Amino acid sequence: MKSKSPQALKYQYQTLELSETVVHLRTLRDNQQFSDPDGIAETLGVPPAGWSHFGLLWDSSKVLARLMQGFDVTGCRVLEVGCGVGLSSLILSGRHSDITATDHHPDAQQHLQWNVELNNLRSIPFFRTGWDDGPSALGRFDLIIGSDLLYQPDHPALLSTFIKDHARSTCQVILVDPRRGYMNQFGRLMLGHGFDETPIEGSPYSLEDETPGCRIGSYQRS
Ligand SMILES: C[S@@+](CC[C@H](N)C(=O)[O-])C[C@H]1O[C@@H](n2cnc3c(N)ncnc32)[C@H](O)[C@@H]1O
Repeated sequence: MKSKSPQALKYQYQTLELSETVVHLRTLRDNQQFSDPDGIAETLGVPPAGWSHFGLLWDSSKVLARLMQGFDVTGCRVLEVGCGVGLSSLILSGRHSDITATDHHPDAQQHLQWNVELNNLRSIPFFRTGWDDGPSALGRFDLIIGSDLLYQPDHPALLSTFIKDHARSTCQVILVDPRRGYMNQFGRLMLGHGFDETPIEGSPYSLEDETPGCRIGSYQRS
């Protein structure tokens, strides 16, 4: 794929209605958008073929966002990992929650900020880091959430270790997966990190059936 100049990237605007909440989003137009003229993203571990992933709206992000609309986050420090467009971070910011977002893509912060402004929200703390970058300055969290993050063979090990390193001793992890085949492996690794698989209190979905095409993993350590 040939790198475009940043100015040549194409975007699309859309308005989502999630129950009674309206969210305006600016996303990349499609997976053909690619701009890494100096190879910065590639050096940070983002391959050209996966460059656009962060800037697209993935179905499981809508499932996670619906969940976060009613989730009890009182007193919780929340981290959205592999945030991409950061739909759940936008929802939680709108609920005045203590939300931090992270992704390894060098452009994710700018895209998140555009969407914060489109929705007149408070700015969302963002840290650019990869799951295999070693210790980060993010600190630890009570609730760690993510959607569509397990799509390469090394992702379950990398992500579960990153989560273990950023979880408070009592922590809940919620991951929505569009059944790409790595969820069982991820679940086993989470058990090894001291988490148990638990139902989600107050969820509009059930753990077994959830929503078409998606599986919701919920893991608790106490
Ligand atoms: C399929 S996209 C999903 C984005 C978003 N969670 C959603 O559901 O719309 C995968 C996201 O994970 C991020 N990601 C992939 N591998 C990563 C890694 N090793 N470290 C940090 N982020 C990573 C990508 O940059 C991208 O934003």
